[in-house]
Amino acid sequence: MNKLKNDLFLKACLKQKTERTPVWVMRQAGRYLPEYRAVRAKADFLTMCKTPELACEVTVQPVDLIGVDAAIIFSDILVIPEAMGMELIMEEGRGPVFPEPVRDSASAAKLKKVDPFKELNYVMEALRQTKTALDGRVPLIGFTGSPWTLLTYMVEGKGSKTFSVIKNFIYNQPKLAHELLTEISVVASAYLSAQIESGADAVQIFDTWGGILSPRDYNEFSLPYIEMVIEGVKRKKHPVIVFSKGAHFALKKLSKSGADVVGLDWTMDIKKVRKEIGSRVALQGNLDPTLLYASPERIKEEVKAVLKAYGKGTGHVFNLGHGIHPDTDPENLKAMVNFVKTESVKYHK
Ligand code: CP3
Repeated sequence: MNKLKNDLFLKACLKQKTERTPVWVMRQAGRYLPEYRAVRAKADFLTMCKTPELACEVTVQPVDLIGVDAAIIFSDILVIPEAMGMELIMEEGRGPVFPEPVRDSASAAKLKKVDPFKELNYVMEALRQTKTALDGRVPLIGFTGSPWTLLTYMVEGKGSKTFSVIKNFIYNQPKLAHELLTEISVVASAYLSAQIESGADAVQIFDTWGGILSPRDYNEFSLPYIEMVIEGVKRKKHPVIVFSKGAHFALKKLSKSGADVVGLDWTMDIKKVRKEIGSRVALQGNLDPTLLYASPERIKEEVKAVLKAYGKGTGHVFNLGHGIHPDTDPENLKAMVNFVKTESVKYHK
C-alpha cells in the first residue's frame, strides 16, 4: 500500500486529506473501449476472466487510456456461483445464464464449499499480475457481488425485469433463502480476504439488486449479509466500499455497516446524503452514466454540479452512478476524468 505513486483514491476512501478528488468508473474495463474489444475478439468473456494475462491487460487499459485513479480487477460477480458448482453461460447479447438455477433444497444441496485459492485462483493470479503491471501507479480494487444480488442470479437463472422467481423464493422458502445467503456470505468474505492477500488495495461489494426489495425485506435479506461479509474480511487499512443500487432507504444503515465508503447511484442527492451520513463514511458517485452521451461542455457542467453538491473537503470518490454503457464514446469519459481532476482542486484548499 505504501509503495503507491498515486494513493488519492485510498486516502479519499479513508477521509484523509487529498489535493484533489480521485476518480474511477464502474465497468471501466469494458466494451466501450476499442482496445478491450480487440482483446475480446480473440477470446470469449469467461476465457478472458480465467486467463490472468488477458484479465491483467484489460484491467490496466483504462489506467493507460483514460487516466483513472484506480484500477478494478477484470472479472465478474458471477464467478462465485460458478465456483460453487453452477454452470455459467455468458450468452452473446443476452447476458449471463445459469441453465440449472437453484430453486429448492435438492438443487441447493448440490452447491459446494469454495476455497478461493483453488476454484478462484485465476482471479488471485490476475490480481498478482496486475499489481506487478501497475507498478504502483494506482491502487487496485477487488470486488464481490453482495449475497442478495448473487442469490438473485442463482435463483432467477438469468437477468429479470420482475424478479418474480426470487421474490416467490424468499416468500415461500425463507428458511432456505437464509441458509443460502449465509453460505454465500461465507464464500464472499473468504473471497475478498483472498483478493486482499493477493494484492487488492480496496474491495467493493456490488449490491446491484438491493433496490428491488422493500425496506423491510432489505433489512432481512440484504443488509445483514452485507454486514456479515464485511465483518469477515481480513484486512488492515484496506477500505471496503458498498454500493447498493436504488436503496435510498438503506443509506443510513449502510453507513453503520462497517463499510468505509457508500456508493450512490445518480438518483441520490449527494449533498443531502453527505449531511446524513458523511461524518461516518466517504461517498462514491454519482454522475448519471447516460450523461456521457452529452457534449463535453455539458459533461463539464454536470461534473462541476456533482463536485459542488458534495462540497469542500475530503471523503468523495468521483464515479458514475452505475456502470458505464458500452456505447459511450471513450473521449467523453476522458473529458469527464480530466474535468474532475482540474475542477476538484478548489474543494481541497
Ligand atoms: O468494473 C469493471 O470494469 C470490472 C469488471 C466487472 C464486470 N462485471 C465485467 C463485465 C464488474 C465489476 C462486473 C460486476 C457485475 N457483473 C455486476 C455488478 C455491477 C453492475 O453493473 O451492477 C453484475 C450485475 C454483473 C453480471 C453481469 N456480467 C451482467 C448482467 C453482464 C452482461 C452485461 C452486458 O452488458 O452484456 C455481465 C457481463 C460482463 N461483465 C461484461 C463485462 C465487461 C460484458 C461482457 C462482454 O465483453 O461481452
